[in-house]
Amino acid sequence: MKVTIITAFPDFMDSFISTSILGRAVKEGLIDISILDLRSYSQGNYRQIDDYAFGGGGMVLMAEPLQKALHHIFSTHGRGKVIFPSPQGGVMTQQTVETLSTAQHLIFICGHYEGIDERFCDQYVDLEISIGDYVLTGGEIPCMAIIDAVSRLLPGVVGKEQAVIEDSFYRGMLDHPHYTRPSSWKGIEVPEVLLSGDKKAIGKWRREQAVQRTLARRPDLLSRANIMPYLDKSAYVALVHHPVLDRKGESSTAAVTGLDIHDISRTCRTYGIKRFFIITPIKSQRDMAREIMHHWTEGYGATFNPLRGEALKLAKIIPSIEKTIAWVEEKEKVKPYVIATTAKFRSGSTHWMELKKSLLTLNKPVLFLFGTSWGLDEDVFSISDSTMQPIRGGINDYNHLSVRNAVAITMDRFFGFR
Ligand code: ADE
Repeated sequence: MKVTIITAFPDFMDSFISTSILGRAVKEGLIDISILDLRSYSQGNYRQIDDYAFGGGGMVLMAEPLQKALHHIFSTHGRGKVIFPSPQGGVMTQQTVETLSTAQHLIFICGHYEGIDERFCDQYVDLEISIGDYVLTGGEIPCMAIIDAVSRLLPGVVGKEQAVIEDSFYRGMLDHPHYTRPSSWKGIEVPEVLLSGDKKAIGKWRREQAVQRTLARRPDLLSRANIMPYLDKSAYVALVHHPVLDRKGESSTAAVTGLDIHDISRTCRTYGIKRFFIITPIKSQRDMAREIMHHWTEGYGATFNPLRGEALKLAKIIPSIEKTIAWVEEKEKVKPYVIATTAKFRSGSTHWMELKKSLLTLNKPVLFLFGTSWGLDEDVFSISDSTMQPIRGGINDYNHLSVRNAVAITMDRFFGFR
């Protein structure tokens, strides 16, 4: 990645680009940073770059020197994405940073005083970014903050890439606390588990700490977080073909479809679901489903498209919801927390965000039940621990998603990198 910074205070940046992690990245050629002194593009003996604001107020950076500096960059390196750090910009998030990290050339304009001439902004600035709702004396510090956040996402910049992945915000959760030597400082001991050498116990403790911190300090982050790495037990999905309602609202059994088997298996594999249960009491339907799965996991399909086989291996054909719950309980040694889903609003049902929050502290496996046909039978709601409120579009009188879409949307809310 190439980064060019236009600033009236070039010295300010020197140690930033030559020290620590960023300095090493520059030395190793992972990122190329140039600094341009705005005053070199000024006019007259006084090297003027700013002037009084029309209508009164403080000083404003003039359009002409900024344009000259930018044209110089364009003519030597081609066009890049022009960023103006400013408190008037959209507030930067990790998503902004991830987007910027895919650019080839970022050009930063560091403002000062009251800002820069709006005509220059209108013509050249692609993105105005604020680093928070407070005002600094200039754009250099915000510019450094943005470059720092972007550079650590570039391959090779942070030594262990896993460290980036495990970081706060990357998964949308806050980080766990950290401790170093000495193990006792002013009589305060490091949590014992960290000295145990037990990797599994340490991992569990860290996950619990991250969950507690996020719930206490930033519960707002949870809607966008992937909570799978923080669950103590696994997550399961079941597609229920019996008992479900038919179009007249009567209890019945729906037919298994190949499309559901394929698509929901793929969704489950993508979001890290442990098993996908296809529930039907009809033997011939189970045989048919088994034949489809066999083709892709062991038959010709397995060599034709191994990725599909990998997804279909998660599918398990089973006769009833009761047997599914028992299967998970046997596997996990704890009864799963069963969440029934519905397209119709039911009294006593729970918003998906509340369910997501509670899964983090339940220490139980979770089993999501999705109904085919006209939805799950009444009996299923009574044996479930919770009912999740419907996924809703903006249209009030129509809610008729395919069950495949409902599974995908739900999985993305709970287990997606969002
Ligand atoms: N310049 C001054 N304050 C700023 C802020 N909060 N974000 C970005 N640029 C700025």
